[in-house]
Amino acid sequence: MEERKKAGRYERIINQLGELTKKCDDPIARMATICAVLHHKMDHFYWTGFYLLRDDLLVVGPYQGPVACQVLEKGKGVCWTAANRAEAVIVPDVTAFPGHIACDPRSRSEIALPVFGPGSETRAVLDVDSTRPDAFSPTDARFLAKIALLVF
Ligand code: SME
Repeated sequence: MEERKKAGRYERIINQLGELTKKCDDPIARMATICAVLHHKMDHFYWTGFYLLRDDLLVVGPYQGPVACQVLEKGKGVCWTAANRAEAVIVPDVTAFPGHIACDPRSRSEIALPVFGPGSETRAVLDVDSTRPDAFSPTDARFLAKIALLVF
């Protein structure tokens, strides 16, 4: 998708999610709502979901798409890299990312970013996979980071 068109779509999604997440302050309900809206409005999203930080594990939370790994072992893969760096990780080709965890062989590219709690601590990871190579750009990172702020 062209970047300007993508940005416009994200703007509309953020407005909608801003309204929807106001209705309920439960983080899981908000995550579920965010996944549903993003997944159905963004054509390049094949798997859209959250992993929740539970001690030394990332445990799957609300998601849309094919069945995913339930637990991601500490330190390995794209989601843990985003959690450890506390910033977005864009992976244009998952086969070229050392330690990438393949939950579904159809995923070709991926973006993961931290979801911060009220004290700016990392509480979860927002992860999106695409069947298209190189599907994610800094535009996705910028807008998904704003969306992640709606959770807690
Ligand atoms: N690929 C991720 C695992 C989660 S799935 O993509 C849904 C990773 O390497 O952390």
